[in-house]
Amino acid sequence: MAEINGLGKSMKRKEDARFIQGKGNYIEDIVLPGMIWLDIVRSPYAHARIVNIDTSKAAKIPGVLGFITGKDLEKYNLHWMPTLMSDRQMVLPTDTVKYQAQEVVGVLATDRYAAADGVAAVEIDYEPLPVVVDPFKALQPGAPKVREDKDSNHIWHWEAGDREATDRAIRQAATVVKQRIYIPRIHVASIETCGCVANWDPINKHLTMYLTTQAPHAIRTVIALVAGHVGLSEENIRVISPDIGGGFGGKVPVYPGYIIAIAASVLLGRPVKWIEDRSENLQADSFARDYHMDCELAADGGGRITALRIKTVADHGYTDAAANPSKYPAGLFSICTGSYDYRTAFTEVDAAYTNKPPGGIAYRCSFRVTEAVHAIERMVDILAHERGEDPADFRLKNFIKKEQFPYKSPLGWEFDSGDYHAALQKAMDMIGYRELRKEQAEKRARGELMGIGISSFTEVVGAGPSHQFDILGIKMFDSAEVRIHPTGKAIARFGTKSQGQGHETTYAQILAQELGIPAEHIKVEEGDTDTAPYGLGTYASRSTPTAGAAAAVAARRIREKARKIAAHLLESAEEDLVWEVDRFYVKGSPSRFKTIQDIALAAYTNPPPGVEAGLEATFYYDPPNMTFPFGSYICVVDIDRGTGQVHVRRFVAVDDCGTRINPMIVEGQIHGGLTMGFAPAFMEQIQYDENGNIYGGNFMDYLLPTAVETPRWETGETVTPSPHHPIGAKGVGESATVGAPAAFVNAVVDALWHLGVRHIDIPITPDKVWQVLKAHGAAAEE
Ligand code: CDP
Repeated sequence: MAEINGLGKSMKRKEDARFIQGKGNYIEDIVLPGMIWLDIVRSPYAHARIVNIDTSKAAKIPGVLGFITGKDLEKYNLHWMPTLMSDRQMVLPTDTVKYQAQEVVGVLATDRYAAADGVAAVEIDYEPLPVVVDPFKALQPGAPKVREDKDSNHIWHWEAGDREATDRAIRQAATVVKQRIYIPRIHVASIETCGCVANWDPINKHLTMYLTTQAPHAIRTVIALVAGHVGLSEENIRVISPDIGGGFGGKVPVYPGYIIAIAASVLLGRPVKWIEDRSENLQADSFARDYHMDCELAADGGGRITALRIKTVADHGYTDAAANPSKYPAGLFSICTGSYDYRTAFTEVDAAYTNKPPGGIAYRCSFRVTEAVHAIERMVDILAHERGEDPADFRLKNFIKKEQFPYKSPLGWEFDSGDYHAALQKAMDMIGYRELRKEQAEKRARGELMGIGISSFTEVVGAGPSHQFDILGIKMFDSAEVRIHPTGKAIARFGTKSQGQGHETTYAQILAQELGIPAEHIKVEEGDTDTAPYGLGTYASRSTPTAGAAAAVAARRIREKARKIAAHLLESAEEDLVWEVDRFYVKGSPSRFKTIQDIALAAYTNPPPGVEAGLEATFYYDPPNMTFPFGSYICVVDIDRGTGQVHVRRFVAVDDCGTRINPMIVEGQIHGGLTMGFAPAFMEQIQYDENGNIYGGNFMDYLLPTAVETPRWETGETVTPSPHHPIGAKGVGESATVGAPAAFVNAVVDALWHLGVRHIDIPITPDKVWQVLKAHGAAAEE
């Protein structure tokens, strides 16, 4: 008998058998009879009028079949489409381009190479227009307008908290620290770029769309909304999200390439494949972060935090194509009060249009939680240093206490559970914090630069409770459908979509725990809208809090029916039966039992009179609250005074995500997440010159950490279950990406504070540190 492998078991990932043998099924693997290729001509200008498009030379290239322009799409009113944030985004421009690398013409050809040759041969005349790159300048009166269809470059204003009370508390405080903190534009750079195969069947008026999407059902609905008027009716749209090589939020939006491919397939009646190359992916797909935050944190004379105020300008590029829940244009930034106990806070965000690609996606982040955590964890460190207090002791003094949960935060969240003291204490013990402080003092006396940085973050994941969370009006529940076969094996389908997180394993483990069926005998499927129940997809670490909960509840419903069948088989009353691991037995006589396998067979062969045959359940889980994972990270760095190079000597991460379904997978998520926190802290950044030309549009300029640069991660855990989740689990996928950057910056600034350095914006490149060292007279002599 196979092992059940329920909760807490580090069973090997079921999906890895195909992944590590190169047998995954990605977009690039999908080849359909008669399939043709789409490639895209992109704008060299950040803002320009299209004067003329000449495709005559390109049309002569062997294999080139045709072209699609904005004017072609305009005939069907398909040249613009809605974004998930109720803004509008061009599919293809009819008059002006708004950012460098924007799609301008679709080229269709018999193969990828002919399509690329066609792209190179299309000739377009542009008339350059004034470019707006800086969001602060964009918001000034008289700034050139990015969007003709809008009154100004100001997209929206959002605020939370009590402005007057916060102003007052800050005026009355004994210590106030202020800092402008910028989190630059970055890009998810997942291994697989975005792509699709659109297959329109003109006879049956049916579209099958193979798509790199994290949210297949939502995309099906969006396609129906965008193109319903030309015959794409939702029952005739099937979105299949095959294996996905990383998503991290970047595969939530609807990209123009998808819509152009559909239009091409409808026009030509042939399957059309489009897949970006790496530079297109880096230059044109949705970006993350780009938040300019003016932060103030106040304390009383005893060093107790009293108030927080943050004013942010958010650069969204030329359209707001973030995928935030409707009521949260600035995402869940209001988690910015952090892990600390104080009553007064106010935060406001103004979003601006600029001539850049759409931004604001949640890069491994629950909708702006990374920005929020970075702000509060930097500010707490600055305040501790300013007051001459040890940053660990300062945190321990100000943390929300274990017995204060559920805790109502000043900006309105109800933190479900937590034990922040235990997590930080564990991290301090693991790394030997007090000894490190002694070592630091000795080194400093010798002129060496060593720093210790802490980040004690609280996240908010699991969107979400339907009274608060929707996307385009669709409530953010998620779903599970579980069917037990006569031989006691099962298939389960979900509205979420794994992009490498291991759902095929962990969902099976939840069901194994609840039903006693070995996880290896539970097949998990996601990503096909024709078979899976409706759900809002996987991002923002929502799968475990939503669909994971749905799995547990659906299984419990099945167990209730199983109890009826067992009672019938054992000729016993239902209330006399006891469930244990994989069976019901009669109270007091454990030898009289029926296993789940016996019961499954009976469900199809011998159901009790009046009970319908079969053993299955579908459940749409609407979480009562978000889950609030947390952790404490400590980082030790040494800085080379000769080069500005920061060496991360140690990094300890203690995470608490409640009940761990599969500890090995959780650890993998944290290792990956830490690396994706290290990357923007030290390397990644997208910049633009004043004409809107991108720096960082390829992997020569956009630096990703490899195994060589990545530090060694040391992980630990505390377990504080979520009181409202059926198995006590909280999300974890993004925790480390959210929590880590502040620990790195805090460590670097800790090493340099005595020189007068208060803050360095990420990425902390050697060049930047070298300039700081020189400015403070601390660079090593030649
Ligand atoms: O939504 P997404 O899958 O990206 O994030 P998640 O819900 O945090 O889950 C990431 C992976 O970690 C999944 O395979 C989860 O089942 C697993 N996990 C776990 O084993 N225990 C937890 N408490 C949370 C997540």
